[in-house]
Amino acid sequence: MDVELNETQVLVQKTARDYATRVIAPQAAEIDEKECFPREILRGLAELGLMAINVPHELGGSGAGVVAAALALQEIARACASTAVMMSVANMVGEAIARFGTDAQRQEHCSRLASGEYAMGSFALSEPDAGSDPGGMRTTARRDGDHWVIDGAKQWITGGTYAGVYIVWARTSPPETGARGISCFLVPGGAKGLKVGRPEDKMGIRGSDTVPLEFDGCRVPESALLGQENGGFKIAMMALDGGRIGISSQAIGVARAALAESVAYAKDRHTFGVPIAQHQAIQWKLADMHTQIEAAQLLSMRAAWLKENGKPFAREASISKLFASEMAVRVCNEAVQIHGGYGYTREYAAERHLRDARVTMIYEGTSEIQRLVIARTVLG
Ligand code: CAA
Repeated sequence: MDVELNETQVLVQKTARDYATRVIAPQAAEIDEKECFPREILRGLAELGLMAINVPHELGGSGAGVVAAALALQEIARACASTAVMMSVANMVGEAIARFGTDAQRQEHCSRLASGEYAMGSFALSEPDAGSDPGGMRTTARRDGDHWVIDGAKQWITGGTYAGVYIVWARTSPPETGARGISCFLVPGGAKGLKVGRPEDKMGIRGSDTVPLEFDGCRVPESALLGQENGGFKIAMMALDGGRIGISSQAIGVARAALAESVAYAKDRHTFGVPIAQHQAIQWKLADMHTQIEAAQLLSMRAAWLKENGKPFAREASISKLFASEMAVRVCNEAVQIHGGYGYTREYAAERHLRDARVTMIYEGTSEIQRLVIARTVLG
C-alpha cells in the first residue's frame, strides 16, 4: 500500500478541506440545530466534483479514485457529519450505477448526480422489518407487460426527500428464495406511486434527511432494472462494501474535529493555576484519542487502497468501519469529558460530535454485522 498520497489525492483533500473550513463549518451548528437540509452546500460539493469522486470522467465524475474519496469525506465530516453522510451515500449510488448500469442508465443518471442536478441519490434497501437482514425484505416487484410494478415500504432512506434517483431493492422471486430472489431498480424522484414520508427526528446528523418511502403500485419500465433479475442482493453487498469505507471516513472526520476542539479547549481552560493541557490526566486522554484516530486512518486507507487497486476489500472495509465508528464514539465521549460541564451544553460542538458519531455504529451495517462479516473470514 502507498502511504504517500499522490498529486490528485492531495488536491482533492485540499479542495474538500478548503470548502469545509470556509463554507460548511460556520453553518454546521445551525444545520444541526434547525435540522436544515444543506441543499446549497451539496450543490457546492457537486461543483467541486465531490459528489461523484470515484465515478469515471466520461460519465461526468471526477475519476479521482477511492482513496481521494475517503480523504475528501473525512474533511467534510470534520466540518459537518450531516453533510458527509449525504455526500457518502450520493457517491455510493453514483458508483453503483456506473458499475452495474447499462450505458443508457449511466448516461441518464451519473452526470446528473455528479453535477448536482440531482440534489441526492438514495439507496433504498432497508425496510421497517429488514435492516440487518435485507434478504428478509418484503417489498415486491412484479412484471406487468413491459413494466415492473413495485409495492412495499422502505425505511431510513438518506436524502430520500430530495433524491433525483433511488436504487430500490425488491423481491422478484418468492420469499423462500431469500437473498437470491431480489432485484434492484432505478426509480426516478417524483415517480407516480412513490410516497415520501416524514423525516425522522434523530439524535444526531440532524441536518441529513432520513425518511421512510412507500411504494404503492409504482410502475417503472423494464429498462429500470439495474443488473440481472434476482441478482440485486450482490449489488447491494458490493455497494455497501464501498459505502463502509465512506462511513469509516465520516467517523474519522468527526473524531478529528472532536480532538482538535479538545486540544484548543485544554490549552485555554485553567484549573489549579495551569491550563488543563498541563495535567497528565488530560494529556493521556489526548494521546489516546490521537493514537486511535491514526489507527483508524491506516485501516481506512488500506481498505480504500485495496478497492482502488481492484483487490478484494470487503473484510478490510468491515474492519475499518467497525474500528473507526467505535473509535469515534470513544473519542467524542472523551472530548465531552475534557470539556467538563461545558461539553454537555450546546455552547461547544463536543456534544454534537458525540451525537453524530453514534450513528456510524448503526448504518451501512451495524457493528454486530461488521463483526459477523469479519468472523466469517476468520473462521474460514
Ligand atoms: N460481495 C459480493 N457478494 C456477496 C457479498 C459481498 N460483500 N456478501 C454476500 N454476498 C453474496 C454471497 O456470496 C451469496 O451469494 P450466492 O447466492 O451466490 O451464494 C449471497 O450474496 C448471499 O450471501 P449471504 O448468504 O452471506 O447473505 P446473508 O443473508 O447471510 O447476509 C450479511 C450477509 C453480511 C449479514 C448482509 O445481510 C449484510 O451486509 N447486512 C447488513 C445490511 C446493511 O449494511 N444495511 C445497511 C443499509 S443501507 C444504509 O444504511 C445506507 C444509508 O442510507 C446510510
